[in-house]
Amino acid sequence: MQEKFDPKVFQLGYVALGTPDIQRAKDHYLKNLGMTEVAQGDDGSVYLSLGYNHHDLVLRPAQQKTLLHVGFHLKPHVMVGDFARDVRELGLTATVKTDNQPGVAEVVEVEAPGGLVIEFYGAIAAPVPGFKQTGASPVRLGHVAIINPDGDKLIAFFRDFLGFWFTDDIAGIANFLTCNREHHVVNIVKAPASRVHHIAFELRDSSCHVIAADALRVAGVNLLWGPSRHTAGHNVASYHHDPDKVMVEFYTEMDAFVPELGMSEPRPWHEHFPMKPRSWGPTELNAWGADFAFNLATG
Ligand SMILES: [Fe+2]
Repeated sequence: MQEKFDPKVFQLGYVALGTPDIQRAKDHYLKNLGMTEVAQGDDGSVYLSLGYNHHDLVLRPAQQKTLLHVGFHLKPHVMVGDFARDVRELGLTATVKTDNQPGVAEVVEVEAPGGLVIEFYGAIAAPVPGFKQTGASPVRLGHVAIINPDGDKLIAFFRDFLGFWFTDDIAGIANFLTCNREHHVVNIVKAPASRVHHIAFELRDSSCHVIAADALRVAGVNLLWGPSRHTAGHNVASYHHDPDKVMVEFYTEMDAFVPELGMSEPRPWHEHFPMKPRSWGPTELNAWGADFAFNLATG
């Protein structure tokens, strides 16, 4: 078990994606997720908000779908200059940028292992465009799953430098880490590629999975998996593709991690007591045992 839990960041702030068809991608997030367009950049970027922060998602025109960067919110006592210096002492590139995007006055742009670009910031504007009351309308961006070719180094960056807590892994491939009370804020997938695996939005409560699925269906979007309960994190989750085939997760009931105890708060659906960080098997994805490859029609 780790000795102390004092991460330099406390939440995922935003994800920026490159898209070959920005209007099509934007329409999905505006209409089907109920996001609001808050600003546009000179490069054609659009900044989308779930309802409070200036942006939770950035879309930028690109030749093909791309994970451009992710943004993490620094704790108030972490000074940008000190943070950039400490990153450089690791041998990584850290650049302090001012006014590189609307809503965020200053970021430290870090080139993390495996080609992942991370922006760290101390403050983001909160114009509060308002939450939508229809459709999926998630309440927050919770985590991002990143496929990375230098996974061990990236995990070390999150755990040893940023101070994340390693919670679980699945077959040593998917590695879950947190910087707050949620079971995971990043999921680092070790594989020979550098791209996003999925971005995950929290819904209001588990009944909203039905509302979200109905809203997607009206838009002609099928679910890929779920809703069902995961093992690692025990979140009730569903997945769909956005128009660029970027996988989007909706989740609720994520395990609440208690770093002081090195375990998740006990829940009736847990298979282990205490629910401490563990390694799950490659087929242990679904706590309810449903096999979504099962053909219900032919039995
Ligand atoms: Fe996820």
